[in-house]
Amino acid sequence: MALLSQHRHSQPVGCLRLLLLSLCLPTIAAATGRRYPCERPCNSYPFCNASLPVAARARSLVSLLTLDEKIQQLSNTAAAVPRLGLPPYQWWSESLHGLAPNGPGVFFNGTVRSATAFPQVILSAAAFNRTLWRAVAKAIAIEARAMYNVGQAGLTFWAPNINIFRDPRWGRGQETPGEDPMLTSAYSIEYVKGFQGEYDGDVQDRIGESRILERSGEMMVSACCKHYTAYDLDHWHNFSRYTFNAVVTEQDMEDTFQPPFQSCIEEGHASCLMCSYNQVNGVPACARGDLLQKARKQWGFEGYITSDCDAVAIIYENQSYTNSPEASIADVLKAGMDINCGTYLLRYTGKAVKLGIVREEDIDRALLNLFSVQLRLGLFDGNPANNRFGELGPSNICTKEHRELALEAARQGIVLLKNDQSFLPLRKNKVSSLAIIGPAGNDTNILGGDYTGVPCRPTSLFEGLQAYVPRTSFAAGCIDVPCNSTDGFEAAVAVARKAEVVVMVAGLNLTEENEEHDRISLLLPGEQMDLVNAIAKVSKKPLVLVLMGGGPVDISFAKDNPGIGSILWIGYPGEVGGQAVAEALFGEFNPGGRLPVTWYPESFTKMPMNDMHMRADPSRGYPGRTYRFYTGEVVYRFGYGLSYSSYSYKFLSVPEKLSVPSSSTEANIRKEPPYARKDGLDYLHIDEISSCKALRFYVQISVINGGNMDGSHTVLLFSRSRANIKGSPQKQLIGFKRVHTTAGKATEARITVDPCKHLSTVNEEGRRVLLLGAHLLMVEDLVYELVIQA
Ligand SMILES: *[C@@H]1O[C@H](CO)[C@@H](O)[C@H](O)[C@H]1NC(C)=O
Ligand SMILES: *[C@@H]1O[C@H](CO)[C@@H](O)[C@H](O)[C@H]1NC(C)=O
Ligand SMILES: *[C@@H]1O[C@H](CO)[C@@H](O)[C@H](O)[C@H]1NC(C)=O
Ligand SMILES: *[C@@H]1O[C@H](CO)[C@@H](O)[C@H](O)[C@H]1NC(C)=O
Ligand SMILES: *[C@@H]1O[C@H](CO)[C@@H](O)[C@H](O)[C@H]1NC(C)=O
Ligand SMILES: *[C@@H]1O[C@H](CO)[C@@H](O)[C@H](O)[C@H]1NC(C)=O
Ligand SMILES: *[C@@H]1O[C@H](CO)[C@@H](O)[C@H](O)[C@H]1NC(C)=O
Ligand SMILES: *[C@@H]1O[C@H](CO)[C@@H](O)[C@H](O)[C@H]1NC(C)=O
Repeated sequence: MALLSQHRHSQPVGCLRLLLLSLCLPTIAAATGRRYPCERPCNSYPFCNASLPVAARARSLVSLLTLDEKIQQLSNTAAAVPRLGLPPYQWWSESLHGLAPNGPGVFFNGTVRSATAFPQVILSAAAFNRTLWRAVAKAIAIEARAMYNVGQAGLTFWAPNINIFRDPRWGRGQETPGEDPMLTSAYSIEYVKGFQGEYDGDVQDRIGESRILERSGEMMVSACCKHYTAYDLDHWHNFSRYTFNAVVTEQDMEDTFQPPFQSCIEEGHASCLMCSYNQVNGVPACARGDLLQKARKQWGFEGYITSDCDAVAIIYENQSYTNSPEASIADVLKAGMDINCGTYLLRYTGKAVKLGIVREEDIDRALLNLFSVQLRLGLFDGNPANNRFGELGPSNICTKEHRELALEAARQGIVLLKNDQSFLPLRKNKVSSLAIIGPAGNDTNILGGDYTGVPCRPTSLFEGLQAYVPRTSFAAGCIDVPCNSTDGFEAAVAVARKAEVVVMVAGLNLTEENEEHDRISLLLPGEQMDLVNAIAKVSKKPLVLVLMGGGPVDISFAKDNPGIGSILWIGYPGEVGGQAVAEALFGEFNPGGRLPVTWYPESFTKMPMNDMHMRADPSRGYPGRTYRFYTGEVVYRFGYGLSYSSYSYKFLSVPEKLSVPSSSTEANIRKEPPYARKDGLDYLHIDEISSCKALRFYVQISVINGGNMDGSHTVLLFSRSRANIKGSPQKQLIGFKRVHTTAGKATEARITVDPCKHLSTVNEEGRRVLLLGAHLLMVEDLVYELVIQA
């Protein structure tokens, strides 16, 4: 970095420092309670001067530190520098779907005892509603800042998880927005903007909030795009995330694994990027200088790059990629990593410098990135009580608004998978008695999935239903979700027999899917299937099956069983989940969620999870992955989701032809034409089209609610080109829009299409191209043909 060379010789000695030293120390020693950097009398350093630009303040701070002090900053647990009035700082706080104590930065043992537990991400993703995602992220940010103000959280959070849910067995798939790169990109943008506090006008769905935090990249709290990259296997058979080498083709890399990270940075303006444990094509992700630099140079990343926890240690100790701890450190610092979650850099960087394999400039660069983010967060502006977020406190946590939003997120995400003869909704006040069966039915610890903190006031499914039918009874059937014994079946059957309507809760818990634990099977755990069938057999009316869990489950048996009238997927619905499910069953709202992942049959598990290929390869019986490439049978497709109404669509306005103006390509008459002929196809390289913006168009779609219930409904717009290059997806999501619809009426949905981004495809060299000729735009069965010409 250019900035560094000017300052690397300025040693932290001199009158100024000695003067400040004498001003600062006594107060620190006498201090009680919390200390903040740049509080009087430690406020006269240039890095404390808020009128100076962030970069200048950061440079000034770096210039005041000794080498040892610098090294002590390279860990998530950054040391204090008492002589400059700097207290220690904990970089690692978690906020995936609410504040969570998974990192050492968040505590629930102080004034604040709980925080709102929103639904697990995979369920909120099913809502396909950008406004919702942004609102949830903003609410979490408010609780985060409020917890920081009372000393129970940091300001730097390691969410969102935007890896592609590539394989249904992945234990952390629940944390992600699903399998589609476009959907995941859209989610990442909303989460980061909502969380960091940036609001702008270019999003179709806008929320009322208009305050813009812009001054010197100011942020409310910092979000982190993780885990970079091609990380989506935790522990499966003998494969572990710590040593897994993800072998990824250029084509898959560019069109599947990278897009969410590009969006998270380029459009979301995330201030942190986390490199993952795994190797990518033989090189540890944190040592992939090319990939880390791509984020900075091509995507404009401004922020800090952290390793996943202990990801530097494992490079030597478990991957044996280097032959010493120092060599690992040299590799990651040179690659562009700035901070290590863990203690490895604290322990070995000094020696690495002595050995001459790490330069102080690389450490300075890391510190500049780190301090810049802290400065943007206002960490060096003295006591936060005096800043614009200073008023946030315990009364901003677990508020009525946040509870309502958590409820709303669950409502919007719940997916109706089956509803024979419109068995649902149940009629309010018309059900005399109800039974809820299943180990999760009266459990509040299961509602959040992983990375859940301490919820404010969790409502179990049982409690939610009791509010509608006072005569509701409960039987677990199995002692827990693994359900490895039939001991409780008899009692459950007896309870089910007596009720007019029976709701059965089946599915997964963290014992099946979790960090460091992928599934082996897609079937219901243990004896659960037998329990469902036993209950369905004795239920007076068709059984209502509620499925909990993040990953897809092969429930073909239930889909085909006429004794099971309705099936709902509720993900991990968060602390107000019990109420949302009861409301769905009683028709308080019309379910409008749609599956963000493909639900595969159990036979899919024949595919090795460690095979990263997205594309099908018939020559070796490989069916491919996700709706874009998978050629086999599904239990439920990506985007599937029923409603209590029925919908049909009409394209209202779409251009028939789109001309790429020759002036917008690098066309030069003396050279080749801007497009080439290959396999009989004409195409343009996207990076050679100079005005992609001019090609953008709107698709207006009429959504007709043909039922007799209003509903909020998502239109999913897919496309494919009529001609294909090798490895073209079968179809791809290019836009979505959730709209309110009125029974019997038509509503318009407008979706913006950016042909360079959405109608393009990636070739085998990893280059994005736009095929000329016919492109099909698709909404369910409706197809519209659009011709692109040069
Ligand atoms: C802070 O920086 C500004 C701009 O350089 C300068 O005018 C001002 O004197 C500085 N304030 C202090 C207290 O040093
Ligand atoms: C809360 O827990 C943390 C970590 O165990 C501890 O450092 C801190 O002192 C505790 N705070 C209170 C108020 O008990
Ligand atoms: C896992 O086991 C398989 C077969 O047992 C073997 O081929 C493979 O090398 C092992 N992988 C790792 C990462 O140990
Ligand atoms: C990595 O190696 C170290 C040292 O051999 C060992 O203690 C640790 O358990 C290993 N970690 C993993 C995740 O395998
Ligand atoms: C449901 O759970 C609550 C809280 O754990 C417990 O008090 C209650 O007895 C349970 N109800 C039934 C019917 O098991
Ligand atoms: C689900 O997992 C959580 C966390 O491990 C546990 O507390 C809870 O008891 C489990 N619930 C069931 C019904 O298995
Ligand atoms: C069944 O589950 C119980 C409780 O979780 C456990 O103690 C037991 O070992 C399990 N048995 C089998 C065969 O997995
Ligand atoms: C999208 O979410 C927001 C925030 O919860 C909500 O107000 C809005 O009604 C939702 N839009 C639709 C169409 O459901």
